[in-house]
Formats: sequence, structure tokens, C-alpha cells
Amino acid sequence: LHVAVLMGGWANERPVSLSSGKGVADALESKGHRVTRIDMGRDVALRLAEAKPDVVFNALHGVPGEDGSVQGMLDLMGLSYTHSGLATSVIAIDKQLTKQALVPHGIPMPGGRIVTREELYRRDPLPRPYVLKPVNEGSSVGVAIVTADSNVGNPISPEAKGPWQEFPELLAEPFIKGRELTAAVLDGPDGPRALGVTELVVANGFYDYENKYTAGRTEHIFPAKLPPQITALCEEYAIKAHQVLGCHGTSRTDFRWDEELHEEGLFVLETNTQPGMTPLSLVPEQAAGCGIAYADLVEMLVAEALR
Ligand code: DAL
Ligand code: MG
Repeated sequence: LHVAVLMGGWANERPVSLSSGKGVADALESKGHRVTRIDMGRDVALRLAEAKPDVVFNALHGVPGEDGSVQGMLDLMGLSYTHSGLATSVIAIDKQLTKQALVPHGIPMPGGRIVTREELYRRDPLPRPYVLKPVNEGSSVGVAIVTADSNVGNPISPEAKGPWQEFPELLAEPFIKGRELTAAVLDGPDGPRALGVTELVVANGFYDYENKYTAGRTEHIFPAKLPPQITALCEEYAIKAHQVLGCHGTSRTDFRWDEELHEEGLFVLETNTQPGMTPLSLVPEQAAGCGIAYADLVEMLVAEALR
């Protein structure tokens, strides 16, 4: 096949996407496919029209690329592409819209509300500790945990360094103490299946950008050592989220689990429709643990795109 691999672009997650894209493109070439590597610019439609690929592998992360914009363009061009479509992407990239979609289906998620920078400077939006995150970023770009002893003032002082300087609006959520878990879902001819649950154990701080993409900073435990009913619930919620949102190909749902509260302490944070494919990424790692090599995973996603 001739596969165009879309990567890079101008999202904050550009470096992550370039790493995913390189992995995917190399894997496709190793399987004998012809690959056109496209670092996405404003001329992406033109470049795709020239390349005339059989299928597009979307290795973009963040906005644009994970948010429906690129998916809409590809729909208009009549090109098949990996991962989720337009409507799913629009909802899943937005952490608040995702809550509105999933909570009515019985998927527990932390309550949250959008706060403006000005509000943060006036008062804490929630009792501390709470989490502030951009509504539509990935890889923990711009995420801050505000604790009682954070030296940002109470309320946050305008001079304090934090995501509120870059993002005029943020999603505020109560901080769920406990453990960081994630579960991937992979579509196949028999429907979606969960690949298992990974626990992320960070040496310092939380599972932020640095701890995600610096080798050795985070221990990945797969399969996570959890009570069987917690593993089962994670897999059930991950599949449910995949189905409710209408994800395609693959998705990865992230969790926090406060084990003191047992099953009631399990919360979905979000579902990622364009999960990372880098050497430190979780979907390829879970797939490998299930006996699916990286290059085979890439080919499976391409096959799903053409199905
Ligand atoms: N946003 C990154 C790429 C992930 O979900 O893996
Ligand atoms: Mg994400």
C-alpha cells in the first residue's frame, strides 16, 4: 500500500507526533509499504492531493490533528484514514464535552468546570487540592496540580507561573489521590477489545510531560497489579467510552484510582483518540504485552482504516 503518514504540525505536542510518525513510517516501510512522510503545514491538502495515497495514517496529536479539523479535511478529500472520525474527535479532544458524553452512560468522571484566568486570580475554584488543565491539550501540556502548600498564593497570584498564563480558560477538577492507570482498546474484525491495564508509577511529581517522555522517569507496570474487579472495571469503562464516543481503530482511556474508596474511587479522566505511538507510549506497550508487535499494530490500524 501507499500510506501517507501525517505527523508534526503546529500543535504543542508536535515533538511527540514527530516521534509517533517516525515510528509508524519506519514500521510501514519495514513491512514493505510505500510511505510518504508529511510534516503537516497549511498546505497539507495540496500535499495529500499530490501524493494520492491509498490511505492516511494520522500520527498527529493535539490541536490540530486530534480535534476533527484534519479528519474533516480528509473526509472532504475522500481519503481513508486511521483512528477516529470527525464527530468523535471533536468531542473527545474536549475534556469537558467528553464528561457530558460519558457520565450519562454510567462512566464515573471527576466533576469539573471551566474557569477563567480572572476567576483564578479572585478565588480558588475548588477546595485544594485541585487540578487545572487546558480543555483540549494532550501529553499533560499545561496541567498543574494546586495543593494547599503550592506557592502560587490563595487565590492564585497573577505573577505566579502556571498554565493560566498561557491558557485564558482552564478546566478545574478535584484532584483524585491514588494511582494512575490506563487502558487501551483496539478494534478488530470481532469488535473492540481491551488490551489490559497499565499502572504508571512516577519517581517524582506526577505523570506530566517530562515524566511521560523522559526515559526512566516513570515505571510502566503491565499488567498492573490490581484487584481483579478494578482491572475488569477499567477494561469495561475503556470499551464503553470507546463505543459511546464512537472511536475507531484504537483509543486509550486514562484513570485515577483512590484505592481507599475501592470501586467507588475509580475515575475516568479522559479518552485519547490519537494515543501516542512513541517508544515510550502505552498502546504499543500493551499491544506488545498481548503479543502484537509494533509493526503489526500499525498494520492493524491501517487495515481498520480500510475496512
Ligand atoms: N496525547 C498523547 C500522545 C497520548 O495520549 O499518548
Ligand atoms: Mg490526553
